[in-house]
Amino acid sequence: MGRGMVFSFGAALVAGACGHDFEPPDRAERVREAEAQYSVTMFDSVSWSADSVRDFQGNTVYAEKCRRCHGTMGRGDTEYARERRLEMPSLVEPDWPLAALDTLRHVVYVGHEEGMPVFGKAGITPREIDAVSFYLVHTLRPDVLGAAGGAPDERE
Ligand code: HEC
Repeated sequence: MGRGMVFSFGAALVAGACGHDFEPPDRAERVREAEAQYSVTMFDSVSWSADSVRDFQGNTVYAEKCRRCHGTMGRGDTEYARERRLEMPSLVEPDWPLAALDTLRHVVYVGHEEGMPVFGKAGITPREIDAVSFYLVHTLRPDVLGAAGGAPDERE
């Protein structure tokens, strides 16, 4: 019975779109705005008493804001992705070109129009973005890749 509902909802969406009275939020526009606002200097004021604190905070942010979509181990094989047929990228590929703190802070801030939230505009702070990026590079990736036998040597 759920299916019937989905189909009729789809038909309503199409009808609405024709009348221009049903505009989905323009994600591409939000991404462009965030890109224009982004600056590496946003993170200048972020400092930590210890990397363990930063890592702990990053783990918390990951659990609250990322895990639902990207999965506990960052592999992207989540219920969320399956249900929506989203191409959820793995964050733990061995040769991931994004595996650097600066790059990740940028990607997380700006988001992406294909389903990655625009976190710079979604109320998470540069401090939280810094922490989660640090956690991905220094803990999650080495943990997962180490288990698969390929830990990068950036691990402290
Ligand atoms: C609502 C689901 C959702 C949430 C929540 C989410 N992401 Fe994503 N993320 C995606 C999708 C879908 C993509 C791939 C398509 C795209 O870029 O939009 C993606 C892409 C990415 C990428 C780029 C991956 C690549 O290889 O191109 C990174 C990095 C990333 N996410 C990190 C995070 C982090 C860190 C968080 C938490 C702060 C997070 N995501 C929260 C859905 C999500």
